[in-house]
Amino acid sequence: MSHRIAAKISGVAGYVPPKVLTNADLEKMVATNDEWIRTRTGICERHIADSATATSHLAVEAANLLLAQTKTDPAEIDLIIVASVTPDMMFPATACLVQDRIGAKRAWGFDLSAACSGFAYALTVGAQFVGSGAHKKVLVIGSDKMSSILDYSDRATCILFGDGAGAVLLEPAGENEGILDFEHDVDGSGGQYLYQPGGGSLNPASAETIAKKMHVVHQEGSQVFKYAARRMAEMSAKLLERNGFTKDDLTLLVPHQANLRIIRAAQERLGVDDSKVMVNIDRFANTTAGTIPLGLRDAVEQGRLHKGDLVLIATVGAGYTTGAVLLRWAY
Ligand code: UT7
Repeated sequence: MSHRIAAKISGVAGYVPPKVLTNADLEKMVATNDEWIRTRTGICERHIADSATATSHLAVEAANLLLAQTKTDPAEIDLIIVASVTPDMMFPATACLVQDRIGAKRAWGFDLSAACSGFAYALTVGAQFVGSGAHKKVLVIGSDKMSSILDYSDRATCILFGDGAGAVLLEPAGENEGILDFEHDVDGSGGQYLYQPGGGSLNPASAETIAKKMHVVHQEGSQVFKYAARRMAEMSAKLLERNGFTKDDLTLLVPHQANLRIIRAAQERLGVDDSKVMVNIDRFANTTAGTIPLGLRDAVEQGRLHKGDLVLIATVGAGYTTGAVLLRWAY
């Protein structure tokens, strides 16, 4: 059974910090090279925030651009959900910081942690409040400052990620527009392959956790790679089929940007060709919760999305978390 939600995306915006870290820059920091990074990941450069800029600042930039673009008074926002694995602090929630700084006086809000699936999860969650009639305007933000949890001496992880944020506005949808269906799952047995062990209640920050580098991203890349390619394709195929569509009905697949080879493997399983797949990993790398809204933003800016288009979002992240959302683009 499909899960139609009467909610639509009525605007999308994104923000990346100005400083660019190229593959050539990384060559000076770790034993890597531009050719390896390009051919193994598709990444050419990524944006990195300065020390004064946190996840909330990236989120606020994206949110303010979105409010201006959609001519929305911040006081009209009912709810703010921030998806992130790099909140400014353990608490208060980054959503509270964003609420204050954008002047969303009436809004409540919370953070959602689902790593690279964070934005897709937050989109589905936020849409429920609109679909139920409880809220009229929900701000869904994916924002991560991945550079704050990377070990820049570990070549296997530091080359993969960048900083950035994207935001969408959710509003009530008409008959044949907006979110048509969604699918999410968790496979917690995969948690051991991608995680940040230090700083939580299990291993509170200490000189020892720092010395053991427990405060940074740890990953078994090849495990995550195989799981992501398979599950993104399976989820996408399931959603299309359940709603009576084939790959030919699809205007655009907007996948999470973790590795160009994962994206290509997933689209190959689905039988979707390059012209129907949004790729911007070359410029931004993996911005975790930021990749999908940044992909939607770029697709709109490049004239690749129009009212009535069938769009599929697909993602896999740490957890493992998986998400796919099928929508009819509404503007
Ligand atoms: O959003 C979810 C988050 N993460 C992901 O989705 C990431 C999923 N995984 C991946 O993208 C890939 O597994 C990686 C890009 C992380 C690694 O690619 P791979 O093709 O799986 O390479 P590998 O880990 O099997 O390593 C191959 C070789 C190794 O050398 P040896 O043992 O064959 O001599 C690595 O040490 O490549 C070496 N290597 C590097 N060489 C140059 C690993 N990282 C680098 C590097 N530069 N940055």
